Amino acid sequence: MKKTQIILNTRKSSLKSLDLKLRQINPEGERRFFILTDENVLEHCLPTLIYNVPELESSDFLELPVGEACKDLAIIHEVWGSLLESGADRDAVIVNLGGGCVCDAGGFIAATFKRGIDFVNIPTSLTAMVDAAIGGKTAINFDNSKNQIGAFYNPLLTCVEPAFLQTLPQKELRSGEYEIMKTLLLTGSHLESAFSDPSFSYIGCIQECIDFKLSVVASDPLDKGLRKILNFGHTFGHALEAYNLSHKVESSHGECVAVGMLYALYLSTKKVGLDASSYRQYKSWLSNRMAVPRLSLKDIEELLGYMRHDKKHHDGEHLCVLLQEPGVPMIDVPVSDNEVRDAVLSA
Ligand code: GLY
Repeated sequence: MKKTQIILNTRKSSLKSLDLKLRQINPEGERRFFILTDENVLEHCLPTLIYNVPELESSDFLELPVGEACKDLAIIHEVWGSLLESGADRDAVIVNLGGGCVCDAGGFIAATFKRGIDFVNIPTSLTAMVDAAIGGKTAINFDNSKNQIGAFYNPLLTCVEPAFLQTLPQKELRSGEYEIMKTLLLTGSHLESAFSDPSFSYIGCIQECIDFKLSVVASDPLDKGLRKILNFGHTFGHALEAYNLSHKVESSHGECVAVGMLYALYLSTKKVGLDASSYRQYKSWLSNRMAVPRLSLKDIEELLGYMRHDKKHHDGEHLCVLLQEPGVPMIDVPVSDNEVRDAVLSA
């Protein structure tokens, strides 16, 4: 797989550097750029992009539905059709401007159109900046199951422009902060400050999170071993997301992962020797930010049902990432149904 170049400037606009890079990959000006975005981003970020990146001025625009709806095969079919109709060739470049869903769907379109064309990610959410836009996982949903069809396919460039974060609602920013906390727990860095300093800068951790993810992905690009650590909190988190969706409870991916990490840390103290104080510090940090859901035994049975359908379920046990200590994750730790019940009721 080709390597992605990351553009992230702290003192000047990343978009200005993107403009230069795009000129370098298009010296004759003959390549066509297709910007994929959604309605929200179109309004809040597209004008800034075009103003700062004149190279994209004459791009074609394709608008996707907001959120997971854009990761539907019918939508992808439409976009393939629009690309063909407008004469996109193998030199065309897809430019994904948006959050994780746009990056996932646009990456999948780039991976499959004419057997693979170049694409650029310009993440506009904090979650996408530190996770979805990095590492080459592209995917769409199938039959109500998330990310079932996809490809590992790296973008040519990922341009992270922190100025876009000013357009985000507080809830979205928080969701990204939970993904950043995941990295801090996996690396063991900055935890004391994050737990005790209310003015701790999560945005100041973007570069570190990207570097960490790139190093993990470099050693396991196809998610066969070490990369699984990035799923910390996700075995529970994905089940909670599915549960919330079916009960029409509004929640973000980050919130569900944050609760999932609480359960995983509780089980880490029981099963792999994590010190109780790390778990307690996290619990108190999380309770200051959100009301942790209280689930009944009946709810937990439903949660277990979703967990059994997860790819991380094997021989009647749930394979989880747990922490021996902050910075020391263990993958594929088998967790029984009873241990899940205990974690959800007691954590
Ligand atoms: N989001 C987890 C991964 O990229 O592997």
